[in-house]
Amino acid sequence: MGNKEDRFNRPDLKIPVSLGVIMDGNGRWAKKRHLPRSAGHKAGGDSLYELCKNCGYYGVKYLTVYAFSTENWSRPEAEISALMKLFVESFDKYDPELEKYGIRLRFSGDISAMPENIQKVCRRAEERSAGRTNLQLIIALNYGGRREIATAARKLAESCVKGDIKPEDITEEMMSSNMYLPDVPDPDLIIRPSGEMRISNFLLWECAYSELWVSDVLWPDFGFDELTRAFEDYTKRDRRFGGLSKVDSDSPEDSK
Ligand code: FPP
Repeated sequence: MGNKEDRFNRPDLKIPVSLGVIMDGNGRWAKKRHLPRSAGHKAGGDSLYELCKNCGYYGVKYLTVYAFSTENWSRPEAEISALMKLFVESFDKYDPELEKYGIRLRFSGDISAMPENIQKVCRRAEERSAGRTNLQLIIALNYGGRREIATAARKLAESCVKGDIKPEDITEEMMSSNMYLPDVPDPDLIIRPSGEMRISNFLLWECAYSELWVSDVLWPDFGFDELTRAFEDYTKRDRRFGGLSKVDSDSPEDSK
């Protein structure tokens, strides 16, 4: 990474290793400015590039962003084609910058059901960036959490039919290892801008113990300050994963 500015030197902050972001609010951002929704998505793309740089400097290792859901196909055709055009242009356009920051690009979702030209740019972006190690940017494209879980279940069912495993042997770990990108750690924190308190079919299996942080800022306006606010709040969270916090487990009743 290039020279890190002082503002990223925050030893007081706990930085998530794996971060998920639901990039919401592009449409509202455009509407407020009397612009077409496609202008909001374009501004959202610039905001994503900024986020990658900021996450890289802060030391996040995996950044998964929700770019297009399995449900987004129900949007008007003009908006879908503007988004597809933006994806095709962006992955190539931003690559030299991503390279500078050591950012590897990967995709999660039902990519094989995407138009052929999109599949091609996705493959190209993955191959080109495969050796970069600073930060992995995972773009969830034609992604649906339920579809991901159903796909994993189908794979395990096929192994049962083949006789490789028995249904009673299926474990949570086996489900995890059949998700789209099993080597990517579950998100420690999921950020949702634009004020909606929903998970919207994003990383349903992986979010079991993720911390959630909702911001009122619309995605195209989400910059360094808001990311820092999210990390400040995350630093204060007591992650118990269903257990007890240190203070509670040391209480007299529990040690009897
Ligand atoms: C949701 O906001 C956003 C999307 C469906 C598209 C997300 C895409 C980008 C941020 C473009 C950049 C992505 C890449 C990978 C280059 P919305 O349109 O539903 O907003 P609204 O709720 O305000 O209408």
